[in-house]
Order: sequence, then structure tokens, then C-alpha cells
Amino acid sequence: MAGLTAEIISRAVFGNDLSEDGAKAVSEGFESYQSLIDSVNIGYFLGFDEGLPVLRTPKLRRSVSRIHQIIDKVVEDHLAGRGDDNSMVELLVRRQKRNPELKLDVVALRNEAATIFMAGHETTAATLTWAWYLLSRAQWVEKSLHEEIARVCSNHVPTLDDIPQLDWCRAVIEETLRLYPPVPILARQAKEADRIGDIDVKPASLVLIVPWLLHRTEAFFKHAHLFKPERFMNGGKAIPYSYIPFASGPRVCPGLQFGLQEAILCLAILAQRFKVRVAEDAKVEPQCRLTLRPRGGLPVTLHRREKV
Ligand code: HEM
Repeated sequence: MAGLTAEIISRAVFGNDLSEDGAKAVSEGFESYQSLIDSVNIGYFLGFDEGLPVLRTPKLRRSVSRIHQIIDKVVEDHLAGRGDDNSMVELLVRRQKRNPELKLDVVALRNEAATIFMAGHETTAATLTWAWYLLSRAQWVEKSLHEEIARVCSNHVPTLDDIPQLDWCRAVIEETLRLYPPVPILARQAKEADRIGDIDVKPASLVLIVPWLLHRTEAFFKHAHLFKPERFMNGGKAIPYSYIPFASGPRVCPGLQFGLQEAILCLAILAQRFKVRVAEDAKVEPQCRLTLRPRGGLPVTLHRREKV
């Protein structure tokens, strides 16, 4: 799933300019970066932000500089007018040309692109991985999903146009994001003194908002620990602010629609052709790094479905 979503976001952010080797190097660079840091705030990804001291080991510096070199080349090509696609880098470059006062130089553009790349693929990969796990354990849901895909996409591979009809696929993704929010902890720092409920918050305090806990609170979700995609069907919605897999407010995830549609479509395309099975006795344990992933990965077997 990580390979798939890295490929998708790479094409969306960098167009087709990133060679296969370049894409692999960027993905691997980010992977090694992620394994070397342990931060709860995805905004601090590459230590670009001055806010949080990130442990800077030579290995960490090497993975960051490897990513920088490759992305810089793509950005420079676009700045020199050698990009002609609708990739995000090209859009950022065009925006800079229209608004020179933004003063977005190569470094700023590279940081924007790197952030979008990183924010936009780990999260979707984690969502899809957890969705396969849950479906493998809840085959009655999988059956409804398969029936829906057969009904809506009887003679074709699912496309963006099918998404409005793929209610089960959407509900499975929404329920997966509830039980396993890829960003399980959101960190904020209080600008000034405040009061939350009966707690006094001092200026500069770190406030952690924990979707993992909110989403599993019985008062907000009946049978909170159970996988029940039906709760999101037929217009079913969560109480405002009790369901925040994409955060909320001014820093809500700008990739919300992109990520949701991508996850729904990847799920539908793959589920049309395969069943994914996790061994009954596999010990699956969530681990919180930058994103919430199954510790040690999720070993699965793929089973080709009968022709649909
Ligand atoms: C299922 C998929 C996704 C989930 C669950 C998700 C979740 C989140 C969350 C919770 C945040 C806020 C983090 C915080 O404020 O501490 C965030 C930020 C962000 N996301 Fe996503 N995201 C997803 C997909 C994407 C995609 C596909 C993109 C890009 C195309 C993206 C780009 C970003 C960016 C750039 C930020 C930082 C925004 C800022 O700091 O203002 N995300 N995401």
C-alpha cells in the first residue's frame, strides 16, 4: 500500500518528471527518515520548522539531503519552464510567477512539495492497510462491499465517476479512519492563557487532541470498539468534532478530498479483483510513529476473485 500511494502522490506532486529511480529514492529516503525520528507532529517532518529540535544524526542528515537533491532538480526544471504538466509543483511555480511577492524560492517550493508528498502518502497507505485488516476480520462487511462493486462497476474497473455510488466503500474507509486514525494524536501549542473545561491552560502549553480516544468514546459512538461501517451509511454522521481523522479548523488536512477519494478508489479497484486475508493467528498491534501503523507491517495473502 505504501508503494501504491507513494506512486500516486509522486505523480500528483511531481508529474511524470520523477524517474522511476528518483521516485524510489524519494520514497526510501522518507521511509528511512521516518524510522529515525519519533515525532507526534507531522508538521515537523523534515526539521524545516524551527519549533522542535529534531535529533540530527549523520544518517538522518543523509536521508534528508538525498530527498532534497532529487526534489530540487524537479523544482528547478519547473522554474526554468521545463515542466508542462498539472502537477502540484507546476501549480506552485505558476502561483509564484503570478505572485512574485510570495518570494517562494527553490527551497520554499521544495519544502512545500516535500510536505505534501510526505503528508499525502503515509496516511492513505495506513488507511488502506487497516481497511484490509478490518475487512479480513469482518467478512460479512466484505460481502456487502463486493456486491456493491459488482452492481456499480459490473463491466469496468472502478473510476472516479463511480465514487458517489460506492456507499459501502466510502463507509468502510470512514469507519477505518475512526478505528485507526492515521494521525492518532494532534499537537497544538497554546498562544495565550486559556481554559478548556475545568483545566487552566498556560501560555505555550502543549495541548494534545487525541482522535484515537475521541473516536473510541462510547458516548459518541455506540459500540465504539466495533467495526460497523453501517454507522456512516444512509446519511449517518458523527457528532461534530467527535470524528476528526483529518483534524479540524484552520489547519484541517488540505488533502481531505484527495485522500478520501484515493482510498475509496484504491479499495474498490483492488477489492474487485482480490480478497486480502490476514492469518487468523497473526498478532496485529497498532504502533504510533508519525502515523498509526501495524507494528512490523501486516503480513497478508492475496486471493484472486472469480471473474466479476
Ligand atoms: C486518509 C488520508 C489522510 C489523512 C487521514 C490525513 C490527515 C491529516 C491530519 C490529521 C492533518 C493535521 C495534522 C496536524 O495538524 O497536526 C493533516 C495535515 C496535512 N495533510 Fe493530510 N491526511 C490525509 C491525506 C492527505 C493527502 C492525500 C494530502 C496531499 C495531497 C495531505 C496533505 C496534508 C498537508 C500538506 C497537511 C499539513 C497542513 C498544515 O499544516 O496546515 N493529506 N492531514
